[in-house]
Amino acid sequence: MKRSKKKSAAKGNPRTHSRANPQANPLWGGRFASGPDALMEQVNASIGFDKALATQDLAQSRAHCSMLVKAGILSAKDGHAILKGLAAVEREIAAGAFTFAPALEDIHMHVEARLAELIGEPAGRLHTARSRNDQVATDFRIWVRDAVDRIDAGLSSLQRVLLDRAHEHAETVLPGLTHLQPAQPVTFGHHLLAYFEMFDRDRGRFRDCRARLNESPLGAAALAGTTYPIDRKATAKALGFARPMENSMDAVSARDFALEFLAACSIAAVHLSRLGEELVIWASARFRFVRLSDAFSTGSSIMPQKRNPDAAELLRAKAGPIIGALNSLLVTMKGLPLTYSKDMQEDKVPTFAAAEQLELSLQVMAGMVADLTVNKDAMRAATSEGFLTATDLADWLVQELDMPFREAHGVVGRIVRLAEHKGVGLEQLSLGDLKLVEPRITADAQRALSVENAVARRRSHGGTAPKQVRSALKRARARWKQANKDAKR
Ligand code: ARG
Repeated sequence: MKRSKKKSAAKGNPRTHSRANPQANPLWGGRFASGPDALMEQVNASIGFDKALATQDLAQSRAHCSMLVKAGILSAKDGHAILKGLAAVEREIAAGAFTFAPALEDIHMHVEARLAELIGEPAGRLHTARSRNDQVATDFRIWVRDAVDRIDAGLSSLQRVLLDRAHEHAETVLPGLTHLQPAQPVTFGHHLLAYFEMFDRDRGRFRDCRARLNESPLGAAALAGTTYPIDRKATAKALGFARPMENSMDAVSARDFALEFLAACSIAAVHLSRLGEELVIWASARFRFVRLSDAFSTGSSIMPQKRNPDAAELLRAKAGPIIGALNSLLVTMKGLPLTYSKDMQEDKVPTFAAAEQLELSLQVMAGMVADLTVNKDAMRAATSEGFLTATDLADWLVQELDMPFREAHGVVGRIVRLAEHKGVGLEQLSLGDLKLVEPRITADAQRALSVENAVARRRSHGGTAPKQVRSALKRARARWKQANKDAKR
């Protein structure tokens, strides 16, 4: 009933149609006596968002046009006129002088309609051996491929910041946590390199996604291929695709490339969110492990003392809509028969938004981590709480007294209880205290109780010892350089 209240819709009677345009659509309206209802036009139009595909659409039209000429399907004269016209359209769009109108539905029809205005009859020949179905699939693949490259660059920059900060803090100790409870001392460099690894795998996921998506749907036409002697390899090559897609029906209906992209975006967003959460915790008054720079903090409008980690919280939050985008497209696709259905027009908004938000998030995270001040004293002080070196004492009992680990675990448990009872840390217990629980303990065991010692001794591959962190850093930097080189190819 709401629609009857609308001025543009019919007054009172919802059955009376209000023509958005009395004329049938000039591009497909041959079998229509009249134009669409205003609401039909509104629900059908995608130009509001797919104008973001303009560059890709123009590149694709140019490749298609040149191929048509080479294949002898289009005259050189018409081909020339079309290419000139497309260049003019491109200039108009770049200059913001192009008129977008919902009546023309989408970017493909906008380009063609304007081309017709500019060059007349030859414009109508561009759509030979092509459909909007293979057009949009091609444009969208190119768009996602470009987004993958931008995101890879963003991930690389963030990794670089993590490498630099990890290098600075290869020896800085802080409590390592499990269950958010004190577990064992670790180095801050080691902690940061954990994120380097996550973002490295993210880059791998985007690389895999890029390799799989980089096949051209162009030439699949509506769904079944075409009767014209087109050269799909040529258009694929011109657009930077590795090869044409094998199956025309798959080519126009596949959106798994976008799903895979959104899955990779979601996982990267989750990694950013986890780091965001750590920054919130580390910057809190209870922890004070880090201080975020003024540039990446906000104040409160009422409480003058406040310094809030808004950016870190927002990166934590942004994982939500990005994961939502993946879900949105999964649900859109799940019931669709082959081949193209208009449902698929709804693939773009979530994909564009997710990519944009992830790109922004990567830049913000790089800025925050580069800028933050590390409070080494607060980190070191925190390691004196929570009996972080209890495992080290158990290891000493195993290594020096040949005690079975399970028994050592029990002995140290009793020692921890004693320390807790006395209200001191393990390293503050006297040798006499320790001997009370296990008479064979010597002064040497007390050395095992220092956090520096505990950290330095964790030299196993992938361990937290500063020595290990330094060699891990070297390997990480080499991998990072190689990945950047590969990305440029
Ligand atoms: N705007 C459409 C989309 O984004 C283009 C393809 C339209 N194809 C069609 N058969 N109506 O999906």
